[in-house]
Amino acid sequence: MTKQSRNLRLLRLRLAMTYQSKYETVMMAKDNTAAIKESKLDLPLRGRGKVRDIYSVGKDRLMLVTTDRLSAFDVVLPNPIPFKGHVLNQISLFWFDFFKDLVPNHLADDYKNYLTPEMTEAYESELKGRSMFVKKVEPIMVECVVRGYITGSGWKDYLKTGAVCGHQLPTGLKQCEKLEKPLFTPASKETSGHDINIDFKQTVERVGEKAANQIRDLSITLYSKGRDYAESKGILIADTKFEFGILDGDIILIDEVLTPDSSRFWPKDIYEVGHDQPSYDKQIVRNYLLDIKWNQKPPVPVLPDEIVEKTSAAYRDVFKRLTGRALAA
Ligand SMILES: Nc1ncnc2c1ncn2[C@@H]1O[C@H](COP(=O)(O)OP(=O)(O)OP(=O)(O)O)[C@@H](O)[C@H]1O
Ligand SMILES: [Mg+2]
Repeated sequence: MTKQSRNLRLLRLRLAMTYQSKYETVMMAKDNTAAIKESKLDLPLRGRGKVRDIYSVGKDRLMLVTTDRLSAFDVVLPNPIPFKGHVLNQISLFWFDFFKDLVPNHLADDYKNYLTPEMTEAYESELKGRSMFVKKVEPIMVECVVRGYITGSGWKDYLKTGAVCGHQLPTGLKQCEKLEKPLFTPASKETSGHDINIDFKQTVERVGEKAANQIRDLSITLYSKGRDYAESKGILIADTKFEFGILDGDIILIDEVLTPDSSRFWPKDIYEVGHDQPSYDKQIVRNYLLDIKWNQKPPVPVLPDEIVEKTSAAYRDVFKRLTGRALAA
């Protein structure tokens, strides 16, 4: 690396850090609706994903806090999006309830037995809207991807091979066309780096035949029911990813469910085959970043207030349409 390019990199890094700290809003602010990029709870931190912060609670519980971080083009943006955490968390809760007769889930309501009185108070008054208190289980190391429309990497795969992850498809499909039957296209769950597509045989090798059949059938059923419901509310769920875990020998649904972060949400009213579809929630941000011709390298540009507000409104709109409920903040 030349001296000049090193300096440039340092400058970029420094800029990135300045942006970060300007927008850093730490949890436990008085106003529990303040947008946060990072939570700081007095619990052992297990990890931070792109969007969620995960804390251990005792031996067998976890606290999953959904922050307001937004990622686009695979990077986390400097600005948090107000209410995004609440929306994502409560969409998952909505689906856990929606599917409760089909599959047990990881939700636990015994937090008072695990948290100190101070934490209980903070959880109830400030955290609950964006957090999930759950049973910690052994995750099944397969990402259960289901695709109902041909798009993204599936579309590229189809153009090259006529198949998507080994599923042969009819010729002449158009980009973003609805598939006759949803496809189960699992991926290995990697602890580092990107997940890798695996076929059903490899799924069986990883988890055994019985569990492989169960998670495949459950994934297709949950996706199909969720998709039909969402469509009746004006939202197309093009594809998604479920995660399952094992609790006392039974398969249960864990992680997040049919959220705009784990799925592709498209607005139904402007859906049209033959080209890529706008994202229900992230398109405003993507368009902005494309408009300013960002080179997709750090530093990540700060979003103008107007873009942040419009994006926040898009998330609240998804929630309202889907659930018909008021957001609990
Ligand atoms: N009930 C549970 N028990 C054990 N682990 C769980 C449970 N629910 C979710 N998890 C795990 O917690 C982690 C949540 O991480 P998160 O999705 O926030 O980040 P990530 O998957 O590492 O990255 P990304 O931000 O790209 O999704 C996942 O590894 C998921 O498998
Ligand atoms: Mg994840």
